[in-house]
Amino acid sequence: MHFNLLTLFPEMFPGPLGHSISGRALADGKWSFSATHIRDHAHDKHKTVDDTPFGGGAGMVMRADVIENALLSLPNRGRVIYMSPRGRVLTQKMAEELAATPTLTILCGRYEGVDQRVLDAHAIEEVSIGDYVLSGGEPAAMIVMDACIRLLAGVMGNDETVNEESFSNGLLEYPHYTRPAEWVDANGVQRNVPDVLRGGNHAEIAKWRLKQSEELTQLRRPDLLKKT
Ligand code: ADE
Repeated sequence: MHFNLLTLFPEMFPGPLGHSISGRALADGKWSFSATHIRDHAHDKHKTVDDTPFGGGAGMVMRADVIENALLSLPNRGRVIYMSPRGRVLTQKMAEELAATPTLTILCGRYEGVDQRVLDAHAIEEVSIGDYVLSGGEPAAMIVMDACIRLLAGVMGNDETVNEESFSNGLLEYPHYTRPAEWVDANGVQRNVPDVLRGGNHAEIAKWRLKQSEELTQLRRPDLLKKT
């Protein structure tokens, strides 16, 4: 999978994605990226990328013509998204859909946002990572990228990890335990691993895990149960 990033801060990439699982996948050629500096596509001598909003108001707006120039400079745009708190909120289902596209172009905004006309002109989809506001689209783009990269074939060691985790079956994931089986915490409380997990009965374990997933989802995210 290839990501094109349009940003005023190309040096932010790959950033955290250059480490751990996504870093190894990058080195292995499972994904690649290009970071295009939007400012390189400004045409005046001051390399202006933004201007004050028509109608007044705080902050600056990124110019449609400059962003379009940056977009058109890409040899292959693929699907184009713009990171914005106004967008459709990223879900695991959306990540699966995006991870199935060979090329994804991500426009990262700064300031108050981008001139609406460039979004309209190129039918650019807006994607949000949640109901809060970041200072720029770059960290949001990294989250979209991470969610896609780990779904690419051969990136996660064990494909079952991807199938069993939270959201993939519409439920939150069951709790995990490892050694030591018996442990006393710093407050002197004895905390043992549930017996069923130590018993080796796989059918019982699967039943227990499903029940845990259902109870946890009911408690923390009843909205997920309503969706199915
Ligand atoms: N840019 C600023 N806030 C954002 C958010 N919540 N999601 C996506 N992009 C953003």
